[in-house]
Amino acid sequence: MGEDDLRIDPWSSAQSTDYSRIIEQFGLSPMDGLDIPEPSRLHRRGIIFAHRDLDTVLQANSRGEDFGVLTGLMPSGKMHLGHSMVIEQVKWFQKMGGDVTIAVADLESQATRGISLAKGREVALKEYVANYAALGLDSEKSQVYFQSTRSEVQRLGFQLGKRTNLNEFESIYGFGGETNLAHVQAPMVQVGDILHPQLEDYGGLRPIVVPVGVDQDPHLRLTRGLASKTNWFNVNPGNSRGLLIGLSVQDENAEVLGQQANGRLDKAKVAEVFAGLEQEIASLGFSDIVSNPKQGTLSLPAATSHDRFNVKMKTLEYERKLGGLGLMAPSSTYHHFAVGLTGDKMSSSKPKTTIFLDDDIATVTKKIKRAYSGGQATIEEHRRLGGNPDTDVAYQYLMYFFEDDDNYMEQLNSDYRNGKILAGEMKQICIDNAVEWMKDLQEKKAETEHLVELFLAPDSK
Ligand code: TRP
Repeated sequence: MGEDDLRIDPWSSAQSTDYSRIIEQFGLSPMDGLDIPEPSRLHRRGIIFAHRDLDTVLQANSRGEDFGVLTGLMPSGKMHLGHSMVIEQVKWFQKMGGDVTIAVADLESQATRGISLAKGREVALKEYVANYAALGLDSEKSQVYFQSTRSEVQRLGFQLGKRTNLNEFESIYGFGGETNLAHVQAPMVQVGDILHPQLEDYGGLRPIVVPVGVDQDPHLRLTRGLASKTNWFNVNPGNSRGLLIGLSVQDENAEVLGQQANGRLDKAKVAEVFAGLEQEIASLGFSDIVSNPKQGTLSLPAATSHDRFNVKMKTLEYERKLGGLGLMAPSSTYHHFAVGLTGDKMSSSKPKTTIFLDDDIATVTKKIKRAYSGGQATIEEHRRLGGNPDTDVAYQYLMYFFEDDDNYMEQLNSDYRNGKILAGEMKQICIDNAVEWMKDLQEKKAETEHLVELFLAPDSK
């Protein structure tokens, strides 16, 4: 990494908002070009600004195939508005038909924040899941589990540890010799969180999407890399056209793939593996398949980049038949962060920067009144120069959280810019909407309280 390369650190309180640089440096894909069915407010307003492999999820969904959504929560502190953005996205995926898995990171919060497992459970249910229910997540299509009690998650994390090392942790997370090892273990458990829904007992092979804020991208980069490293078959663009499937021989699969301990090839076995692979791929309808067992490749000259997902799925299914894990790299989406009330970063440890979902109406009103404003110093100047909605917290919160009507938002935007609406008026509009939103949430919370238990996965009751 060069001197001024960005490093995103999921534990830091600093925040980069240079989103185009983030896209470029970490190889995220911008959202344009994707056909998002029934876009949510967050899509329409460009708040969800990037993704990795979201096309695979959209493709699976458009064909009526299964996909899953995974998110995790840190059971420390209180749930605030910023947290609700991920839930909005989870809800949207759930409506599309995705099954929802929610990890309670109780092992992580115990090790890194000193919160006991019992306390973590209580906070997760009362503070987070209760609000998820109130925000409209469907308990029948959601499963909440705890890292501490789902041994497959821990096992998978442990097992995949073999595929990474401290150098990679240094380059992804900036760790050094003084780094506490809990910060090494926690991401490995999170790798288990993200990949385990693909195991047979948790729904089997299907695309899994993880909606996150960019601060969590290091975990996704790690997870995607680890999943790919375990794959027995790589699928890449062909030399001049088509797709090329290449064998990836590893300790775990050498024998099955016909590589004998003495270094010789068991030709009959290799032929058998390739015949099986060819049959799988042929089932997708390809007739032009060039199998080259000697080279360890199989090429599909007529395939296009659109076929890549199907081909990948087939190779993973086949890998599983042969005894491999068959893990697919997770997809992800990224949202912009809403600015804190003070104009700095929103943070649960700084109550003045955010609105907690259990703040009372008086507190919410007071917080918005005191929020950072994009207005001018005097009314005269404001009328003359206009305000700046891009930095105005009240306007921003209407856009992120409290106002659904796009036309109305556009009107507010231009009226603010040309000085027709004053900063105090913008705040009052925000307060009115926020109060209604909060009251509605509190009512729903009372109505859905009894559903919290139903979110718990069978192993987590
Ligand atoms: N580390 C996340 C946080 O700090 C919580 C988390 C645990 C998570 N497992 C996850 C998030 C899996 C996304 C996916 O909030």
